[in-house]
Amino acid sequence: MFVRLLGWGLFGVCVMRLRAPGCGWGVVLVTAAGLLLLAALGLALALILTRCGGVLTDSEGSFSSPNHPGSYPSNMLCAWVIRVPPPSIVQIHISSLGVEGPSPCLFDWIEVQDQTEQGSVFTRFCGNVAPPTVNTNSSTVWVTFHSDGSISGTGFTAQYRAILPGHKSCSREEFMCDSGRCLLPVSVCDGHPNCHDQTDEANCSHKHKECGGQKTGQYGYLSSPNHPRPYPHQQLCIWYLSVEEGHVITLSFRNFSLETQDVCEFDYVEVHDSVSTGAGRVLGRFCGTTFPPDLTSSGPHMTVVFVADEGVADSGFNATYQAVSVLDRTCSPGQFACTTGECLQQQWLCDGWNDCPDGADEQGCGNSTYPPFTSSCEIIEVEMCQGLSYNLTSFPNIWLSIADQREAATLLRQYQVLIELACFEPLRKLVCGLFLPQCSPQGGVLQPCRSICSSAEQQCSQALDLFSFSWPFNCHLLPDSQDPMECSLP
Ligand SMILES: *[C@@H]1O[C@H](CO)[C@@H](O)[C@H](O)[C@H]1NC(C)=O
Ligand SMILES: *[C@@H]1O[C@H](CO)[C@@H](O)[C@H](O)[C@H]1NC(C)=O
Ligand SMILES: *[C@@H]1O[C@H](CO)[C@@H](O)[C@H](O)[C@H]1NC(C)=O
Ligand SMILES: *[C@@H]1O[C@H](CO)[C@@H](O)[C@H](O)[C@H]1NC(C)=O
Ligand SMILES: *[C@@H]1O[C@H](CO)[C@@H](O)[C@H](O)[C@H]1NC(C)=O
Ligand SMILES: *[C@@H]1O[C@H](CO)[C@@H](O)[C@H](O)[C@H]1NC(C)=O
Repeated sequence: MFVRLLGWGLFGVCVMRLRAPGCGWGVVLVTAAGLLLLAALGLALALILTRCGGVLTDSEGSFSSPNHPGSYPSNMLCAWVIRVPPPSIVQIHISSLGVEGPSPCLFDWIEVQDQTEQGSVFTRFCGNVAPPTVNTNSSTVWVTFHSDGSISGTGFTAQYRAILPGHKSCSREEFMCDSGRCLLPVSVCDGHPNCHDQTDEANCSHKHKECGGQKTGQYGYLSSPNHPRPYPHQQLCIWYLSVEEGHVITLSFRNFSLETQDVCEFDYVEVHDSVSTGAGRVLGRFCGTTFPPDLTSSGPHMTVVFVADEGVADSGFNATYQAVSVLDRTCSPGQFACTTGECLQQQWLCDGWNDCPDGADEQGCGNSTYPPFTSSCEIIEVEMCQGLSYNLTSFPNIWLSIADQREAATLLRQYQVLIELACFEPLRKLVCGLFLPQCSPQGGVLQPCRSICSSAEQQCSQALDLFSFSWPFNCHLLPDSQDPMECSLP
């Protein structure tokens, strides 16, 4: 579920951070000798406590969590010291991972500690997706494995080898940036820069070739890349359809076959009744092989998003659209016609929101033909999110695929630590806003505005560095607006 919005669910990797003396961070400065002493003590302790870990001095080898591939025991602390002859450096490849997550890996984790003259770099991993290759910068590297008292998994298995500093490499599928950092394919061109040099987002046009874009014709079609052959993995396409004022857009699917999944969180087509993917009505999210119904916008704009993950690919879809004059339009049976000519889905009638410009859909709602008015907003019951500037939310949360407040509360617990950092004043509102989106009977359900998320990211990343965490949200997926009707501001 986190896959879309939350960077730290992506593959459970907490991005490495340099904690060098002189960063101005009040990090305890320790001399190299002190570090080694501490490390030696830590290793001795770990060996006594758990009889796991060890010292590895061959030029290549492998190691794994205790009992792998069986479940690792709880309350473990293992440490391995990998030492290769300088000037060679250590390359580590974790080939399988099953460690309680998600990021920021607060419970169980495997941590690679790279000691260089500039300081130590910690890289933490957890989750169920094996991380990309780690090219360290040192000939001595510490790897620690920690488990807490609850939930365990199959642990990990890793290989290491000595390489020359000029020979940093990544596995075949991986992408290399920052002269030696490896990324999984899923992180490349995902709209979220993972590399300092930003090369992972720099050459994406070929990847999204023939996919998405502005469409302004009175009719046309859109199809998934390669259709009717299988669409490529990790695809993100966004089509912005606009027709003349006084017209609406009708979208009809001709072919439709996407990976099937209950809540369409892997591969899906999402249709928005608005100029962007931000706030505004979502006409639906579709996946599987059942054709979506014909969809009609309420105005001259519609936005269609196609997302494919790294898994199963199917033949995709082909859809045609056309502009229909508001005056000519006849609403299909089961739809309601506003006096302005717009057609509405029956379920929008008497739902407490004015969907027709003149509010005709909310008049005469006493008629027994329509279900009685029930607000789709509900009072926030999650304690952590009470006392904010808003007190109503709505479920399901379509953006994060959360069914109800109880599920949101469980997920939110993992962000408690982040909120306690107090690095950004409206941070609690932001995090709550993502999980328990603001609902107002007049304005609909709103995600937080992108600018809030970006400011928080900027202000908090330094504090997060201290804990070797990376910013967990992909702000680029939030609406880029300052309009309180389109997204929520603190
Ligand atoms: C190794 O050093 C390079 C350049 O100084 C840096 O960008 C990179 O993050 C370092 N890698 C690790 C694992 O510390
Ligand atoms: C962008 O990607 C294409 C296709 O993989 C490649 O041929 C091209 O050299 C790349 N361009 C840059 C600037 O990296
Ligand atoms: C999609 O459908 C349109 C209209 O039927 C057709 O002209 C077009 O070639 C189709 N595109 C693909 C990729 O199948
Ligand atoms: C797509 O639809 C067309 C007819 O509209 C049909 O001829 C074609 O076989 C379909 N392609 C796939 C892959 O289902
Ligand atoms: C309710 O009934 C009145 C008269 O019976 C009718 O004019 C009106 O359109 C109905 N309301 C709705 C929302 O259909
Ligand atoms: C919710 O907030 C509104 C105004 O912000 C306030 O009038 C109302 O009493 C609050 N409701 C609850 C249950 O706290």
